[in-house]
Amino acid sequence: MNIPSIENCNFQDKAVLLRVDFNVPIKNGKVHDATRILRALPTIQHLVNAGAKIIIISHFGSPKDRDGGLSLKNVVETLSHLLGKEVKFVDDCVGEKVQRAVDAMDRGDIILLENLRFYKEEEQNSLNFAKQLASLADVYVNDAFSCSHRAHASISRITELLSSYAGFCLQDELRYLEKAVSFDAKPITAIVGGAKISTKIKMLIKLAEKVDYLVLGGAIANNFLLFNGVNIGKSFFQSGVDGLLHDVVDTANKNNCKIIVPEDALVAVNSDYSTGTLRKTESILDDDIILDIGPQTLSTISSIIASSKTLLWNGPIGVFEHSAFANGTVEVMRMVSRLTHEGKLTSVIGGGDSLSAVNAAGLTDKDFTYISTGGGAFLSWLSGDEMPGVAALHRH
Ligand code: 3PG
Repeated sequence: MNIPSIENCNFQDKAVLLRVDFNVPIKNGKVHDATRILRALPTIQHLVNAGAKIIIISHFGSPKDRDGGLSLKNVVETLSHLLGKEVKFVDDCVGEKVQRAVDAMDRGDIILLENLRFYKEEEQNSLNFAKQLASLADVYVNDAFSCSHRAHASISRITELLSSYAGFCLQDELRYLEKAVSFDAKPITAIVGGAKISTKIKMLIKLAEKVDYLVLGGAIANNFLLFNGVNIGKSFFQSGVDGLLHDVVDTANKNNCKIIVPEDALVAVNSDYSTGTLRKTESILDDDIILDIGPQTLSTISSIIASSKTLLWNGPIGVFEHSAFANGTVEVMRMVSRLTHEGKLTSVIGGGDSLSAVNAAGLTDKDFTYISTGGGAFLSWLSGDEMPGVAALHRH
């Protein structure tokens, strides 16, 4: 792997701008799943030991403006606790206030800046915004594999302005994914679920060229059901993507890849999430919201997985956060973990929500071949796309 590592660099007294992915699940203002924070700790610890001043930057969610719920402030307590060291939070990510906080830092100090996406320039990959970030530091480190599929200012543009290095989490992700995912061990099944449809649909086209079964769950499955003329009631879907869906189906047909969509579903009736009602997908009513697969679909998916040698999974199959709709995701996860332990399956799971689902199923990273912090990034890597964040480091 030919990207510059933080390993043998001199960081003594250097201000290091460290891009991490602290886009973690939060419940009632507290971190609900700390996996992504835990994965960043070795890099932070290394920089502390090397005598750097560490300025941590991250995005959180997709804010339209400065929405208090999407502040990175919610992460500070957990980060400090896990590091066993005080982390100071600054409620902005560029400008004078931040500069003052940086000027006051001693070696080994850590500050966490506010959500980068409070500035629309971040997602626009703005040179000007990257310059403001770069002016805070001497060196840039990217430890956010899970964001490296985004050409954003703090991931891509910034590398034009500062010496840039890869942190340990990013390096580990690339190394382990390379080792774990061999497209030779067939049949290959990919499960793609979750809610972030727009990023995923494009990647499904490339995935359909490589895998034998494409199992769809979550909101992405709703889109395909609708595309097939099925009434999905009030279920979540993305409009305006029929052309892409058509391309996915077309590519799958040409490459002998079978697309699996739910045959039955558990739905919430009248927005009551406390209990699920079972319906065949062709019998969904106008007020129904599809939130999990039903037993027939579970049985189909189970037999596909039992016959597979490789399983790639991004995004929960149902809305597992509500206990009435957790069964599909949890049961499939348990089966995947059992087959992995029996040595019959290579299993690689990725994505923020998928990490939470692993925990919800009472499982850990020991129960699968590899767990990636990346969701969209994992899919992007699988599809063989160039990842802007990784490509930018290669150029250093
Ligand atoms: C993720 O959760 O997959 C990463 O944090 C990237 O988030 P994004 O899809 O909002 O860019």
